[in-house]
Amino acid sequence: MARRRTADPARTAAFRVLRAVTADGAYANLELSKQRSGLSSADAAFATELTAGTCRGMGSYDEIITAASGRPTRSLQPAVLDALRLGTHQLLAMRVPAHAAIAATVDLAALQIGERVSGVVNAILRRVAAHDLDEWVAQLGADRDEYGRLALTYQHPRWVVEAFAELVPEDELAALLAADNQPPVPNLVVRPGLAEQAELGGRPARYSPYGAYADGDPGAVPAVAQGRAGVQDEGSQLVALALARAEAGDGPWLDLCAGPGGKSALLAGLAIEQGSRLLASELAPHRAELVAANLRSYTGADRPITVVADGTRPAWAADVFAKVLADVPCTGLGALRRRPESRWRRQPSDLPGLVALQKALLASAIASTKPGGVIGYVTCSPHSAETVGVVADAQGVEVLTASDYLPEVAEAALGDYVQLWPHRHGTDAMFLALLRKRAR
Ligand SMILES: C[S@@+](CC[C@H](N)C(=O)[O-])C[C@H]1O[C@@H](n2cnc3c(N)ncnc32)[C@H](O)[C@@H]1O
Repeated sequence: MARRRTADPARTAAFRVLRAVTADGAYANLELSKQRSGLSSADAAFATELTAGTCRGMGSYDEIITAASGRPTRSLQPAVLDALRLGTHQLLAMRVPAHAAIAATVDLAALQIGERVSGVVNAILRRVAAHDLDEWVAQLGADRDEYGRLALTYQHPRWVVEAFAELVPEDELAALLAADNQPPVPNLVVRPGLAEQAELGGRPARYSPYGAYADGDPGAVPAVAQGRAGVQDEGSQLVALALARAEAGDGPWLDLCAGPGGKSALLAGLAIEQGSRLLASELAPHRAELVAANLRSYTGADRPITVVADGTRPAWAADVFAKVLADVPCTGLGALRRRPESRWRRQPSDLPGLVALQKALLASAIASTKPGGVIGYVTCSPHSAETVGVVADAQGVEVLTASDYLPEVAEAALGDYVQLWPHRHGTDAMFLALLRKRAR
């Protein structure tokens, strides 16, 4: 008699998240927080590790599944492929015994997709289980070049490995790729003037005078719960701080691409400290709401203002702002450790459209700045097309030496720019250029 199928809540949750990611373009982290509710804490932890690890490894696991099954993954039903990806991660990267990983994945596939797929899932996973991860990498990597092997070993698309190889010394490339696979410790940040660094608990941040590394649930920190502090990568803190430190004379400050408002929240307090005031502008209305929520604790007459506006077509007069942050939409290749699925979603073909938008937003930021004012051009991608390539086109500005404004992390200087790195600084790979608008 056939064994009764058992539904495993953690694996079912992980399967639902992965289906939403691969079929509907959902973000794994957001979907996971929905699916985790109702799970025990042990099941929630298992579901989180399984989902994040599977999303990070997806492209490499597909190559293993292809080799094990002898057929291209596109010939598999998408839901079956997702079940196989989850099974492969358990077999090759989690401490789940092989028989348990296979049996639980076959049950999952039978219950969630249909009994008819149980045979194929069982057969393919048995072939995956015949080797450990190192053996699969050695076997598949045997006829590849160094970048191909690194891509497979560190679970990155090859084009990303190639882009990074142009940016860091050869002997750092593996460390950078490995750092992308380590989920970051949440970094906390004060809203200047509303909270002190000492209130954040945890360890004070290495570089940012406003930050700390959380040693537990950030929501349990009173200043965070009260909106007087928030969660923000230390690299994001540093680039906002550099702009705040640049001398630019009187005038309001503008955050041109503000959503969800992490940098706005820091800049707003720093602006008030300098007798100024921040306008936070964002194209997407739902993201502008997040900005307003992040800024809610500033309540004085100089509190920041949030507006919905297309930064390429400013709703304000030219030559007005003393400081303008252009933290532009980008590939996010510098924040891969935060969004497990994103490395497989991005394509080189995304670059031309993004670069055109980045150039338009930077031109608009410059137009909005008063002569003598300072523009901070920021990306959370180190890709040279989005960083130096965009700044090289800027008109009517002089390039400041950005590292002069961040002495805490002087070694992050990239010529006149600043480039932070996860493997060197423990931050996202943020890029910063500081530009001073010339008098006409
Ligand atoms: C990299 S994110 C900004 C992150 C933000 N500065 C923070 O620290 O929280 C870029 C933002 O630009 C917005 N955006 C995209 N196109 C825009 C446009 N034409 N004008 C203004 N904002 C735009 C996106 O919706 C997104 O919220």
